[in-house]
Amino acid sequence: MSADTLWYVARGAGVVTLLLLSLNVALGIVARSGQGFPGMPGFAVAQVHRTAALLSVVLLGIHVATLLLDPYAQLTLPDVVLPFGAGYRPLWTGLGTLALDLLAAIIVTSLLRQRIGRRAWRVVHWSAYAAWPVSIGHALGDGTDSGTRWLLAMVAACVLVVGGALAWRLSAGFGSPSRTPVRRPGLSGPSGPDDRPLVTAGSATRPVATNSTAG
Ligand code: HEM
Repeated sequence: MSADTLWYVARGAGVVTLLLLSLNVALGIVARSGQGFPGMPGFAVAQVHRTAALLSVVLLGIHVATLLLDPYAQLTLPDVVLPFGAGYRPLWTGLGTLALDLLAAIIVTSLLRQRIGRRAWRVVHWSAYAAWPVSIGHALGDGTDSGTRWLLAMVAACVLVVGGALAWRLSAGFGSPSRTPVRRPGLSGPSGPDDRPLVTAGSATRPVATNSTAG
């Protein structure tokens, strides 16, 4: 692969990673609400959320691997895990590394969720709210295309989607219909607001732990 091809692939993969991350923050919020979209119930949103998260890891892997081979960026393996030490635009590249570290923690704790418990998983999962603006800063500061209209328009679209989802998350009415359990295909019981089946104890209804990654 020529140096030019590596560079194009790296940039393309970075852009798709950013799109997926933004979509994922929004999908995580929708999954957490327990509500779906028209034609897509809540548990399906949670499934798409998980799949998009894993896809973003693949794309991020391509982004980093091609940049490691890129003769211009001259990144080293430590630059990929230790923020702010890279020779190439250390601050902006460091934000990318920070986003990667946060993302890695989110994915690993989601995979180990049943072992570490819901509380610890949740604390780490909240760092997605930090990883997203950090990766926006990285894309705007580091990218060759950061001054172009298309990249700015794409970032603006990401900000609108995530900003809208966040505003809903912080609103008083967020998730209230989730109190009404809905039937989930394949399960005998109803499903919870974050894709966990509900069990009923007396008058109270509480979720039971399963291996869901929805936040
Ligand atoms: C969640 C994590 C990350 C996301 C979402 C992301 C996304 C992006 C985006 C959108 C760009 C701009 C591409 C363009 O201008 O067309 C970019 C550029 C860049 N990224 Fe990342 N990145 C991430 C992590 C990293 C990491 C861990 C490194 C390496 C340590 C890195 C190194 C770079 C470099 C060197 C550039 C500049 C490429 C160029 O010359 O245009 N990124 N990234």
